[in-house]
Amino acid sequence: MSTQREETVRQVLSSKNYRHILPETVERIVDEESKKGRTGGELTKAVKAVLHRDWGVFAGSSAKARLDTAAMGDDARAAVTAALQSHVSTAPRLAVMDEFWAAVFAACPAPASVWDCACGLNPLCLPFWPALPARYLAWDIDGKAVGLAQDYFAALGRPYEAVCADALTFVPPGDADLLLLFEILPVAERQQKGSALRLLSLPARHFAVTLPTRSVGGRRAGIAAFNEELMDSWAAQSGLAVISKQIIGTEWLYLLRRQDHQKGESDYATGSTCFYRA
Ligand SMILES: C[S@@+](CC[C@H](N)C(=O)[O-])C[C@H]1O[C@@H](n2cnc3c(N)ncnc32)[C@H](O)[C@@H]1O
Repeated sequence: MSTQREETVRQVLSSKNYRHILPETVERIVDEESKKGRTGGELTKAVKAVLHRDWGVFAGSSAKARLDTAAMGDDARAAVTAALQSHVSTAPRLAVMDEFWAAVFAACPAPASVWDCACGLNPLCLPFWPALPARYLAWDIDGKAVGLAQDYFAALGRPYEAVCADALTFVPPGDADLLLLFEILPVAERQQKGSALRLLSLPARHFAVTLPTRSVGGRRAGIAAFNEELMDSWAAQSGLAVISKQIIGTEWLYLLRRQDHQKGESDYATGSTCFYRA
């Protein structure tokens, strides 16, 4: 006989909207919502509400996104534009792509290794980068987005990796020149207090962090000021040096650098390395 935990996880993972979410993440949310005393249908509903808040709101129509691999040879940017347009995070970035990536790489020119935490469809932005890194590792709880990134890397013929993994526990192997933390810090912090600072302690030399200046749908006021205060506070506590901060399009872009005495330090040493390939 299955336990209530197993049954709730099974129900969520068999629903149309959430079947491609990392099972480990669904289990974590079931445990958190159970601790609040929720059971049965109320528990399932609460777990789906968290997944909607932290994934569904941003996914837009990206679950149906396709790559135009036939067009890749002729126009690499055109081949990914429709897919990027389908995701709430990358769609507004399309209007400022060149400015955005030029700013990122001004702070960290020609990184050899790049990590992309909670990547969504961001790996499909590679045609907008001034140069490609030797190594690129992306992760997200969304198996569909990860699968699309894997297909894209294969079509590019690059040995890049995309894996399904939870940002709250995943420890990427080795270290990186540049860690992309796009629109994930407030989401991760809401999932577990302290997550933003833990992600800012991953062993990378440079960090590119974005936070939205508008709410999804644009109805809530004061988001830019709220997120600036939040990020200024995390940056100060992280001990990282802020190289620059600016608004580009609809996002704050913060560029940070690890200071020499911090090299190799990370409070991530005891985290889980559990992940699976989509
Ligand atoms: C606002 S979107 C940002 C996507 C991408 N970083 C970008 O800016 O283009 C948030 C992403 O975080 C992912 N996500 C949410 N919680 C996560 C977690 N705990 N671990 C990994 N990914 C997570 C969602 O699936 C979604 O793709």
